[in-house]
Amino acid sequence: MTEQKLPEDNKSIVIPDIIPILPLHNVLLFPKMVIPLEVVGSKAAALIDEAMMKDRLLGLIITKKEVDIAADNYKLEDFHNMGTVAVILRMAKTSESRAQLLLQGIDRFQIRELVEGKPYLQARVNVIDDKDVIDIETEALMANLLTLFDQILKLSPFLPPEFGPLAKSIKEPGVLADMIASIINAPPEEKQKILEIVDSRQRLKELTRLVNHQMEILELGNKIQTQVKDDIDKSQREYYLRQQLKAIKHELGEEEDSNVDIEEYLKKIAEINLPPEAQKEAERELVRLTRMHSSSAEYTVAATYLDWITALPWHEATADNLDIAKARAVLDEDHYGLLKAKKRIIEYLAVRKLKPDSKGPILCLVGPPGTGKTSLGHSIARALDRKFVRISLGGVRDEAEIRGHRRTYIGALPGRIIQGLRRAESNNPVFMLDEIDKVGSDFRGDPSAALLEVLDPQQNGTFADHYLDVPFDLSHVMFITTANILDTIPPALLDRLEIIELPGYTQEEKVKIAERYLIPRQLSENGLTAGQLKITAKALNKIISGYTREAGVRNLEREIAGICRGVAAQIAAAELSAKTIAVRDIARYAGPVRIMNDFDARIAKPGVAIGLAWTPAGGDLLFIEATAMKGKKGLTLTGQLGDVMKESAAAALSFIRANAGTLKVNPDFYEEMDIHIHVPAGAIPKDGPSAGVTMLTALTSLLLNRKVKKELAMTGEITLRGAVLPVGGIKEKVLAAYRAGIKTIILPDWNSKDMEDIPANVRKAIKFHFVKDMLEVLRLALENGKKK
Ligand SMILES: Nc1ncnc2c1ncn2[C@@H]1O[C@H](COP(=O)(O)OP(=O)(O)OP(=O)(O)O)[C@@H](O)[C@H]1O
Ligand SMILES: [Mg+2]
Repeated sequence: MTEQKLPEDNKSIVIPDIIPILPLHNVLLFPKMVIPLEVVGSKAAALIDEAMMKDRLLGLIITKKEVDIAADNYKLEDFHNMGTVAVILRMAKTSESRAQLLLQGIDRFQIRELVEGKPYLQARVNVIDDKDVIDIETEALMANLLTLFDQILKLSPFLPPEFGPLAKSIKEPGVLADMIASIINAPPEEKQKILEIVDSRQRLKELTRLVNHQMEILELGNKIQTQVKDDIDKSQREYYLRQQLKAIKHELGEEEDSNVDIEEYLKKIAEINLPPEAQKEAERELVRLTRMHSSSAEYTVAATYLDWITALPWHEATADNLDIAKARAVLDEDHYGLLKAKKRIIEYLAVRKLKPDSKGPILCLVGPPGTGKTSLGHSIARALDRKFVRISLGGVRDEAEIRGHRRTYIGALPGRIIQGLRRAESNNPVFMLDEIDKVGSDFRGDPSAALLEVLDPQQNGTFADHYLDVPFDLSHVMFITTANILDTIPPALLDRLEIIELPGYTQEEKVKIAERYLIPRQLSENGLTAGQLKITAKALNKIISGYTREAGVRNLEREIAGICRGVAAQIAAAELSAKTIAVRDIARYAGPVRIMNDFDARIAKPGVAIGLAWTPAGGDLLFIEATAMKGKKGLTLTGQLGDVMKESAAAALSFIRANAGTLKVNPDFYEEMDIHIHVPAGAIPKDGPSAGVTMLTALTSLLLNRKVKKELAMTGEITLRGAVLPVGGIKEKVLAAYRAGIKTIILPDWNSKDMEDIPANVRKAIKFHFVKDMLEVLRLALENGKKK
């Protein structure tokens, strides 16, 4: 490498006519400026060598854009109009044909003609001096340019800030323009344009335009840069933090076992295609999960939530069986009778079949215990080919039991509705809400309000469980409710229900149910065959009347089960091989007769009448006893009577006193007498107005000393004037009377419309009287004889 020193001073440089020309492609040198340059090639090397030996001068000029840079024999028109004469400040040869130069510009030149004769390019040139005019406009242009340049320096991190003061120190407008033009980042053609402007004011103007343009580019670039940087920063930050966290966990020995869960959840969530809101919530919880350690309580909370949300049947549904004939067969297979209920269910299915998206009513099966409500629900599910879930609402007092607790509660879980659906594993099960009449409410909120939402087809498409916190669509669920009585169901809830009554069974129906369903089931449950145990029809009748007193068949089934166990024990002990139960065998297996139908004996004296009561268990006989004793206008009522019943008794007494003449009662009877009315079965609270006629009959019977007719029962409300008003629960009452062997029943005239609900065989077996006033009742009920 050779290096040569320059003369200290190059002010007195004289530029000859003919100078060597170094064609350049995209590097520009302005006068007074210094650039480093590397030259390659034998021609260039020869040029540099000669220049170094002479005056170190050479002309730099760029070729036009379209000129082929590999071609070597340039013509005049290949070059731009103007170039710069430069002096070599330093030169270092790195090889024969390669040199590093430090060049300083001296003056502009124009080529007059190319000169042949050397291995490198030479030209005859005109040197061009700046035309500097210093006036206000140039000064203003210069000041403006300096400001712009400052900004450019600020925006360009790669330009040394020292350029600022340097530029300010330049007084000649042309030089200032050249300096800034050489520094800014602009394409060579643009710079060339500046170079070619000889008039310095013009040059400043053109440069201002260029610098402005440059500024815009820089600003935009900067903006983009910041945005991109922000984005990258954020993700990088997260990445670094995560890596750190991992490292910390590793140090603590808490390896990433939880990742397994997280991946699993991720997979599950991706698979089940959650509705958007649920998806969002699940993802949020998943993110929380990733941040927590698997042994923390928080982790369990998040994981439990994800378990729930991924386990729910968001899309799973079973296909409905809409074959009506098959459905009917299934219903008949499971239950005897219940014609009305079955008919309604078949209608429901038929509507479903014709209009699959119909929002059917919510059925409510109402009836005394053991009448088959719950088991009918099972059967409906079976008939429809749907899953069955049942929740019992008995004693539910807390709204959260229906709707769940918010996740912020410790140990929070979804409500029973969502739990039921998870169990069903399908979003269209038959969902039985059992004992809806036993829902309570207290300070923990009103569950019936939540039930309203569940059961309302308009709302339940977006049922909001507090725990899930995202809506779940219940509109495909077939809700069926059951109740023993309607009175305690909140009216708003009742309003949404379509009531199907299961009023209880007659003796004959019970026998049929026992023969076809209960006995076969108990036989198989106790491991017996039909050949090993038979129960005669008579015996069955005896079991029903002597051992059970109920509207349903639950106790009957229990008695049968008892007999089956007894026989099974004997067969297992090889004491027997088969057994047919006749009436006389019953006591041996079921114990002594439990129900006494001894009412003949109980009404053998005047002052006792049989009423009919409606009870949640179906219906029952109500014995009302009246007695009189010496005293003074006292009325005692016992047997846990409610206010309404007490008032009935008082009304009955007043009626008799007011009508003593008509009734042929001693008008002064009350003067020296206390009256006591008692309703036995004293442990059971009783209320309601329907015992009015019975009380009056019992009192009159007592006062007239005439017995009430045998096997006769009655029900009805009375007014003070002796009219008989209608009462409810006729069917249950009549069936209870029928079970007990009553032969005559006195009913309010208004209730004759209820007769159509009463089975034909019952109507045949019992004589009904419909009455409008009390005198008719007394005429029908009291025995004639004045006999003592
Ligand atoms: N019509 C019927 N045919 C056949 N079996 C019946 C019939 N009615 C009731 N049963 C049987 O009687 C039993 C009791 O019925 P279930 O449990 O459905 O009563 P429920 O009406 O739900 O009573 P509760 O109000 O006490 O809940 C069941 O085993 C059921 O199969
Ligand atoms: Mg039930």
